[in-house]
Amino acid sequence: MRKLSICAALFSLALCSMLNADEQLSMNAADKAMYAEMLENNPAAMDVAEGEELFNSLIGQEAYAKVLGVSVKDLPKTIAGFPRLVKAAGKVVTLSQSLQMAMADRGQKVPKLESKEMVKMTAYVKSLANDLKTNIDVKANKQMEEMVVMGKRIFEERRGGRGLSCNSCHSADIIGSRLRMQELPDLGSPVTASASTWHAYRMTQSAMVSFDKRMQQCMKNALLAELPLGSKEMVALEVYVTNMGKGNTIQIPGLKR
Ligand code: HEC
Repeated sequence: MRKLSICAALFSLALCSMLNADEQLSMNAADKAMYAEMLENNPAAMDVAEGEELFNSLIGQEAYAKVLGVSVKDLPKTIAGFPRLVKAAGKVVTLSQSLQMAMADRGQKVPKLESKEMVKMTAYVKSLANDLKTNIDVKANKQMEEMVVMGKRIFEERRGGRGLSCNSCHSADIIGSRLRMQELPDLGSPVTASASTWHAYRMTQSAMVSFDKRMQQCMKNALLAELPLGSKEMVALEVYVTNMGKGNTIQIPGLKR
């Protein structure tokens, strides 16, 4: 019955045939034991430590705070509110983009968003807000208001070969059911807390992955054209999904299947 109602909600035969409510759970006992061990000793902690070294040698807290127009003391709570409007950029930017700005400001070569340095540095800077709650404010200004509307549209827009949207798998009426043995996660719930737990170590990839990259991976899996990192659309999507989980506690690096 459950499967039927999900299919009715989806209107997508392709996705329906992939859903199987009776399949085994995604993690077996050995996986669970490994997960417990990694919780104690997250392999991505090393990446975050490398990110700290990079950040301190290339930018530093004072220079970074200056670019954001805040005091060093206010850095953690400012970081907890990304993506946000940064005056010096004149637009809503992600944390990584704000680090790129700080590097450009210091006359340094600006690494690509997908580069290892950038991913590590951003993870470290986000970890400065650990234990704070995400405080994104989508009503703070006109730019944020526009971005959250755009992000919602992108989240709900059916695209690609299967005509799926993010919402096909992450809407309130389907989360908790399973797709190819994976539980469909409620991105904004305190349990999944997507926006506040990526950068995370992804066990299936044996690597630390950023939040925007994780969203791109879902696009790839669901045959939606991948939005480029740093594009206005991708930033808008990050605004929307972050706002779903507003108030969740930031814990970087996270640990994910
Ligand atoms: C075909 C179904 C499907 C579609 C469409 C889909 N996702 Fe997912 N998504 C999943 C599944 C299943 C998982 C959990 C996978 C796992 O456990 O590794 C997931 C996980 C995620 C996560 C990580 C959750 C966590 O652990 O924090 C994010 C973020 C995410 N999706 C965002 C998106 C966005 C944004 C879109 C639209 C661009 C999208 N997804 C489209 C099925 C889908």
